[in-house]
Amino acid sequence: MGALIKNQHILLAVTGGIAAYKSAELVRLMRKHGAEVRVVMTEAATGFISPLTFQALSGHAVHTALLDESQENAMGHINLARWADALVIAPATANCLAKCRHGLADDLVSALYLTATCPVFIAPAMNQAMWAKAATQENIEALQGHGVIMIGPNAGEQACGETGFGRMAEAWEICDAVLGSAESGMLAGKTVLITAGPTREPIDPVRYLSNHSSGKMGYALAEAAAAAGASVTLVSGPVSLTPPKTATTIQVETAEQMHRAVLERARSHDIFIAAAAVADYRPVQVETHKIKKTADGMTLTLEKNPDILADVAKLDNPPFTVGFAAETHDLEHYALDKLARKNLNMVAANWVGRDQGGFGSELNALEVFWPAGRQSLPMTAKTRLAGQLIALIAERMHDQNTA
Ligand code: C5P
Repeated sequence: MGALIKNQHILLAVTGGIAAYKSAELVRLMRKHGAEVRVVMTEAATGFISPLTFQALSGHAVHTALLDESQENAMGHINLARWADALVIAPATANCLAKCRHGLADDLVSALYLTATCPVFIAPAMNQAMWAKAATQENIEALQGHGVIMIGPNAGEQACGETGFGRMAEAWEICDAVLGSAESGMLAGKTVLITAGPTREPIDPVRYLSNHSSGKMGYALAEAAAAAGASVTLVSGPVSLTPPKTATTIQVETAEQMHRAVLERARSHDIFIAAAAVADYRPVQVETHKIKKTADGMTLTLEKNPDILADVAKLDNPPFTVGFAAETHDLEHYALDKLARKNLNMVAANWVGRDQGGFGSELNALEVFWPAGRQSLPMTAKTRLAGQLIALIAERMHDQNTA
């Protein structure tokens, strides 16, 4: 996920679609990542969202007209195009795509597209039937052939009440695509402690209780946190993954060992992410010799393991604490309950036991909850999802500190 454009001049062109409201968030996000953003709008876009909103968010006057003397004097469209390190058209209507494809230049946005020599990113947004129409698809294909980077659209419910492809990509997806890894630099100077993988609770010298956790999510989070500039400590249960080069990895077996390793370090870390699938119970008695199968049946008596996550959240000055919730039903209910009961800053919940990624899979989707909000992170590779979750954590921490 190399950064294509970083900390640079982004020219955001907004055309007339209901998704224009998401572009306000996009300006905020890109500025948070250090980019300087200037906004231009078509006449139609101003019917959906006020130029004043973008002016306030970008800190610059918004250009709306091609042939306005005062605007051209301030910074004409040629100069705007020269200033830009990237042109982002979001949302791009079907009309805008058609104009760009054919080289029309009868408004500010299409004229800028023609003038721009920098990379161009386009996030289309339209009704699903307009998106599916051959004319639009041909325009998309042609523009891609001209070197334009398309972002989305996504599928889902649309403002017009229909369902299908055509929803504009989310602000963070666009930010991610334009600024490279959206989380890059977001955790510079921070320390992050992460648990990953399963634990093994011994029964006798050759047997143990455990679960199917692969550790992939925790390891991906460690890599993503390091990529975001953090110094990372990973406390890992037994997994078959190669420890990330960018983290200090501590290998443990049992929940008690994991508990000790985490509690010794939690106070010196800014963020704690509990991605491990810790065994809730362990055998009371660990036999010193292998148990023989002489009896017809046997009963294992179990006792509860310490809750590592809850114990970290209970510390006097706890790190920003993030828990996971793997649920087979009532995901939201259990996630919110966990957030409150364990006094967490954030819970990342995912479905298990369905055809939806999770344990062992390369893919996953998360529903992320924090005390004042929530965000869906749709099904994608765990490595990418990890970056998105790290970006969310960094954002929430930032908001908390500046609140
Ligand atoms: O309460 P529950 O086990 O469902 O909570 C799951 C979350 O708590 C995960 O983040 C997991 O890593 C963490 N956990 C823990 N120690 C335990 C049990 C769960 O840190 N003993």
